[in-house]
Amino acid sequence: MSEAGAQNGQGARGNIVGRLVVVGIGLIGGSLALSLKAASGCREVIGVARRAQTCEQAVALGVVDRSVTDLGDILPELEAGDVIFVAVPTLTVEAVFAQLKDRLPAGVTVTDGASVKGSVIAAAKNVWGRVPDFLVPGHPIAGSEQSGVTAARDDLYIAHRIILTPLENTGADHVQRIHAMWEAVGAEVLSMPVAEHDEVLAATSHLPHVIAFGLVDTLAHDAENENIFRYAAGGFRDFTRIASSDPVMWRDIMLANRDAILKSIDLYTSNLESLRSAIASGDSEHLMGVFTRAKAARDHFTKMLAKKAYTETMEAKEVTFVARPGGAVNGDLRVPGDKSMSHRSIMLGSLAEGVTEVEGFLEGEDALATLQAFRDMGVVIEGPVNGRVTIHGVGMHGLQAPPGPLYVGNSGTSMRLLAGLLAGQQFDSVLTGDESLSKRPMNRVANPLREMGAAVETGEDGRPPVKITGGQALRAIDYTLPMASAQVKSCVLLAGLYAEGETSTTEPAPTRDHTERMLAGFGYDVRRDGPRASVTGGGKLAACHIDVPADISSATFLMVAASIAPGSDVLLQHVGINPTRDGAINILRAMGADITLENRREVGGEPVADIRVRYAPLKGIQIPEDQVPLAIDEFPAIFVAASCAEGQTVLTGAEELRVKESDRIQAMADGLKILGINAEPTPDGIVIQGKGGNGEAAVFGGGEVDSLGDHRIAMSFAVAALRASADIRIQHCANVATSFPNFAELANGAGMNLDVR
Ligand code: S3P
Repeated sequence: MSEAGAQNGQGARGNIVGRLVVVGIGLIGGSLALSLKAASGCREVIGVARRAQTCEQAVALGVVDRSVTDLGDILPELEAGDVIFVAVPTLTVEAVFAQLKDRLPAGVTVTDGASVKGSVIAAAKNVWGRVPDFLVPGHPIAGSEQSGVTAARDDLYIAHRIILTPLENTGADHVQRIHAMWEAVGAEVLSMPVAEHDEVLAATSHLPHVIAFGLVDTLAHDAENENIFRYAAGGFRDFTRIASSDPVMWRDIMLANRDAILKSIDLYTSNLESLRSAIASGDSEHLMGVFTRAKAARDHFTKMLAKKAYTETMEAKEVTFVARPGGAVNGDLRVPGDKSMSHRSIMLGSLAEGVTEVEGFLEGEDALATLQAFRDMGVVIEGPVNGRVTIHGVGMHGLQAPPGPLYVGNSGTSMRLLAGLLAGQQFDSVLTGDESLSKRPMNRVANPLREMGAAVETGEDGRPPVKITGGQALRAIDYTLPMASAQVKSCVLLAGLYAEGETSTTEPAPTRDHTERMLAGFGYDVRRDGPRASVTGGGKLAACHIDVPADISSATFLMVAASIAPGSDVLLQHVGINPTRDGAINILRAMGADITLENRREVGGEPVADIRVRYAPLKGIQIPEDQVPLAIDEFPAIFVAASCAEGQTVLTGAEELRVKESDRIQAMADGLKILGINAEPTPDGIVIQGKGGNGEAAVFGGGEVDSLGDHRIAMSFAVAALRASADIRIQHCANVATSFPNFAELANGAGMNLDVR
């Protein structure tokens, strides 16, 4: 091999490694051999196995190019850039290392596939007196209960994880070579410290194997075992699949990772003990708690595996909308449940005494983040199933310390309202969020909470994470909000439930009052006087039934769609039309939209109606500032309507739009400009020159716009396509699932043409 080739880890013919020597040609070693050959990642594969028969079989099967029974035989031929992959049972690794001692040519990299890394490090120290720089300990997480060379596959590592645990002195070129080798066979490569690896694997892999082997053995010893095995059904089969794994390998792992495994077994034993007592004493609440939490965690894990998780993995998910031009919207539609009310139903239901039933719950990622946070604090919550959630309230003082930070994804409402509730708890807590939420201002809640005596810390510039030290005695305050924000108002009122005395908020303009209404629905005394709302701490909440109406913020996308697309006529069913939320209806009507409210009624303390919207030509207006807080989430869609109106629309007094899930003024102005609209942002609003005119004519050109991961920006541009001349491609749309998970399905069913990629 050339100097240069050896330097950059490329083999003589541009391969990633030179020769690959696989010591132990079983499933793990054989599969790497097959897949690296298939990827043309090495010049030659040499197999090493103790038994001549395995050697012959490996060559016959084409797993290796040639094979030897003695590793020592081929060491003299190796050169820089070659890799030795030690794929033998954990406790045999040391014997292989001993064969390499003093005989390994310079520049050869040694790596391994053992499931325990601490013992590999110990083996290296025993042999060399230190861990050599050419050793890159690794662990492919791709085992299966099958073993042996015949089980080897060339696709075993595709989309599987490989954990490397290099030490400080491990050579960077060696690490890079092994990294590249695993990537070449389709694996995802991660790095981790040795001890962390062994603890994580003890809990996630070694413990399940102990339990599976143990369970099958217990049943096998049973006198009735034949019957038991005969009648054993899917549960037994699924649960114990891993008990047919290689016993030698697993014995070695147990011995090699003793301490970490013992820790995991102890934790599990105590959990099993408490399940035992719950079953013995008929403690159904405890059983429901464990089972619902476990189910939620398992479902979450299943989604993670399918790469559609709702929390951390969301950020990695990439969704693009391609909205085809033209069309109209028609039909009877029900958009998902109100996001604000869904959050509050979980919070108050959890703190209530008794069981709260919720219907119409929004199964979007934001509301699910709140739900998960309360599960993390020990509340038993069943569902959601078709919008139904059952919350087993724990009372005002029944929350438990969460096991770690409460991650609330994209949801500002979760973070700000929870901050208020958590300030009144006895335990410490930390609230974290995704990239967008991590940029949003939290001092607006931290400041009043501090005035109440809470111990709240934020990250840099008042951004998340929000750290709350529990156990503080809160004092009531009389708080005048510096901005019209329902989240800030709600946060202070919720903290007020735990404060000594009467806490009041006074808002500069009416904002959504769901917290006040729902607290009253749970039997809490809320005094309201114009802009002022007050609660006295120390009261109780009584469980109730909550019917969450459809979200007017989601309905607005369809209202705008119908208003701008000739031939449209939709009936939006059961929409919440709370007067603190109806700004979009008022603004669109002022622009000439044809909107009628039918079947008006009150449901669970909230006004509800079916909203009929038919196409009508729109005109530009000066949006009244008093409507701004009442339509705060609807402006991106309203800007699309304004672009389709005759004349100019001017928005002022809406600087809050700059601190939403994105800077919605800038994001919309940028996107509208790309689509050919004259839209000028101002510090507190926007000026849009509508293209109006003939309703049939296109208003928007096609093009590619960025939603910046903001759900409402994404959906607004999708609606714009109804009046576009060509496709509108919208980037970063995954977060549509935060508020309107079935948006594309519903929009397409109504007559839009939206491709989700
Ligand atoms: C919300 C209040 C509003 C709104 C958000 C939901 C709530 O935020 O934009 O989507 O549920 O209280 P601000 O309080 O920041 O205006």
